[in-house]
Amino acid sequence: MTDISIKNLSGNADLPCASIGVLGAGTWGMALARMLTNLGHQVTVWSALPEEIAALRATRRQVNLPYMVIPEATGFTTEIAEVCRDRDVLLFAVPSVYVRATARAAAPFIRDGQILVDVAKGMEPGTLLTMTQVIRSELDAHGPHDNPLVALSGPTHAEEVARDLPTTIVSACPDPDVARRVQDIFMNSCLRVYTNTDIEGVELCGAVKNIIALAAGISTGLGYGDNARAALITRGMAEITRLGTAMGCKERTFFGLAGMGDLIVTATSQHSRNNRCGQLIGEGLAPEAAIARIGMVVEGINALDATMQLARRYDVEMPITEAVDQIVHHGKNPRDVVYALMTREKASENPSGQ
Ligand SMILES: NC(=O)c1ccc[n+]([C@@H]2O[C@H](COP(=O)([O-])OP(=O)(O)OC[C@H]3O[C@@H](n4cnc5c(N)ncnc54)[C@H](O)[C@@H]3O)[C@@H](O)[C@H]2O)c1
Repeated sequence: MTDISIKNLSGNADLPCASIGVLGAGTWGMALARMLTNLGHQVTVWSALPEEIAALRATRRQVNLPYMVIPEATGFTTEIAEVCRDRDVLLFAVPSVYVRATARAAAPFIRDGQILVDVAKGMEPGTLLTMTQVIRSELDAHGPHDNPLVALSGPTHAEEVARDLPTTIVSACPDPDVARRVQDIFMNSCLRVYTNTDIEGVELCGAVKNIIALAAGISTGLGYGDNARAALITRGMAEITRLGTAMGCKERTFFGLAGMGDLIVTATSQHSRNNRCGQLIGEGLAPEAAIARIGMVVEGINALDATMQLARRYDVEMPITEAVDQIVHHGKNPRDVVYALMTREKASENPSGQ
């Protein structure tokens, strides 16, 4: 049997080792920090929570990934200036609600040319900005900066990356050379990295698929079966694609890893907090109680307002997103909402009417 254990595949002599600052010591930040350290990169992790850094230093374990050993070579700091200083790459790995504050705190220490990579999946309510756009707006507010921004997104549960299980991801940047540079840094025998220049499409997929995963979870919680889940994934993809193409994103992105790939994994896996949170709601728990029971960020709930606003702005029909909004924000009974979805006006799968 071929051994696929972690091996550096960059094949790029210019990049023997990159210096990487990871902002955020949660589940995904630490899974990536471990992987990047094992690839030979120099990795330092920062968290806004000093007690979290103390615990990570002491135990070399992340609480949500207790089986994952954090290498001794992974450094930690509670100083945001230090995590930014002299790094080739800064990885924003905090939940979406903290991305703006983190970018604001980091901006004074970010130097031109450093590549900023976002892995948080979400959209900011009110501004309707994607996460790389939020980071860009904080940099601009601080003065002129010349930093390429990359979104790294795909079907990537931290629980599996922490075990070096085969995974794929997309490095998205309008500048293909920068997308390839990040591909070189992250690519290894357990993580295959594809590039894409449609950064907005990739980020939109990452934010909205979590809402469809909530819907899939609600359906499971109500006792509905695989037929319903397949319908939600397929029609959910149709509405994400409608929104994305109305916004000028590339249709192909939605059928790629960051789109269909991530939607499939999020809507079918028990690792997905969005899916599990939806299931609890479907079983009868109030949305706030379900979020509290999950105890970690549920990005689908955070993305609801912005997605509803975008759907209105671009005049795009998003019946599944609306259904989740009715349940989460308007106290509607999930069974009644499903009845309303099933009895909507008859439609063609092909909007051109054939
Ligand atoms: N977990 C995954 O498998 C996974 C995979 C891909 C993408 N993502 C995305 O990555 C992002 C982070 O997810 P996660 O699973 O690591 O979440 P998490 O809930 O594990 O992250 C919590 C972390 O956020 C940080 N934090 C807490 N309060 C903060 C504050 N006030 N200011 C700044 N930082 C603070 C802390 O480091 C904390 O550990 C999310 O947007 C998620 O959608 C997660």
